[in-house]
Amino acid sequence: MFRFKKLAFLFIVTAMILAACGGGAEAPAPAEPAEPEAPAEPEMPEGGLACSPNCQYSDMVVGFLQTGSEGGWRAANTASFKETAETLGLTLKFYDSQNDLAKQVAGFQQFIQDPEVNVIVMSPLEVTGWDQVLTDAKAAGKPVLLSDRRIDGFEDYYVTFIGADFVEEGRKAGREMCKLLEGSESKNVWELQGNVGAAPAIDRGTGFRETAGECGIEVTKTQTANWSVSEGKQVTEAWLKETQDVQGIFGQNDEMAFGAIEALKEAGLVPAVDVKIISVDATAGAFQAMLDGTLNVTVECNPLLAPQVYEAALAALNGESLPKWIPSEESVFFMDDPNLQSIADGRKY
Ligand code: AHR
Repeated sequence: MFRFKKLAFLFIVTAMILAACGGGAEAPAPAEPAEPEAPAEPEMPEGGLACSPNCQYSDMVVGFLQTGSEGGWRAANTASFKETAETLGLTLKFYDSQNDLAKQVAGFQQFIQDPEVNVIVMSPLEVTGWDQVLTDAKAAGKPVLLSDRRIDGFEDYYVTFIGADFVEEGRKAGREMCKLLEGSESKNVWELQGNVGAAPAIDRGTGFRETAGECGIEVTKTQTANWSVSEGKQVTEAWLKETQDVQGIFGQNDEMAFGAIEALKEAGLVPAVDVKIISVDATAGAFQAMLDGTLNVTVECNPLLAPQVYEAALAALNGESLPKWIPSEESVFFMDDPNLQSIADGRKY
């Protein structure tokens, strides 16, 4: 034991002498200013949040990637997320992607890096483009939920999708257009599509053609009008300059149908009479158009998704398994419904 102490003492003395004499080694260059600490990797603790499996809404910090603000439906959807977050007492970080896919991907990366955010919810602008961020979110251990719109593939990279069956919405519209054009010699229908690459634009078109085709309807013109009234009007005006041989217009949302109604009126045609019109969403504006007699049918797409989404997000944080798709409940509404006014009065959006 002692021998050891002696050696140690000798060692220390030698080291001190060396240090005093510059140890033969170059005096350490003045330390470079330390590189700023890279932000801590957003590590979700193994197995999820510390509070799991008893996390509460107050533990949730939701990073929500909204598409943008393209109309009445989106406004109701955004309000649903903001108001429900307040009611439940969870923290919502709201990101407006301004209908720009690159911005939405950048926002996603931001939420992956944000150490406060513990669950990510996205309303995807398009069905593809999510490979990298979904892989990164998984690596960071952050659960991802899809709200309103589906994406192609990557089922193992998101917890669940809560939203509509857009194909079925299209089928409903096709069935109703068949009824409206029953007995009509020609059944030429024009379609105003949503933004290119978006699940509702792709799926509503698929569903509509499936059922409308069964009664001999032909979609003779189709073009995107980006969910907007003004583009819906412009596109319809351009078509009407080419021909007025149209018996029906399918607006993949209310706003585009409103644009078509204006264009028909300015062309001297009577909307919902000379040309049958069907839209999707069933917002307050659609009920007003039906009460005004200018829109025949609107197929509901429910924007009030937040309560279901937050409930599923909490379940995910608590390690519960969820079905891959939680479809939302939806109906169809008609201009010639005798109770239309009272239905309209009872609507939340
Ligand atoms: O994803 C739902 C669609 O998005 C709505 O039908 C449309 O109005 C909105 O832009």
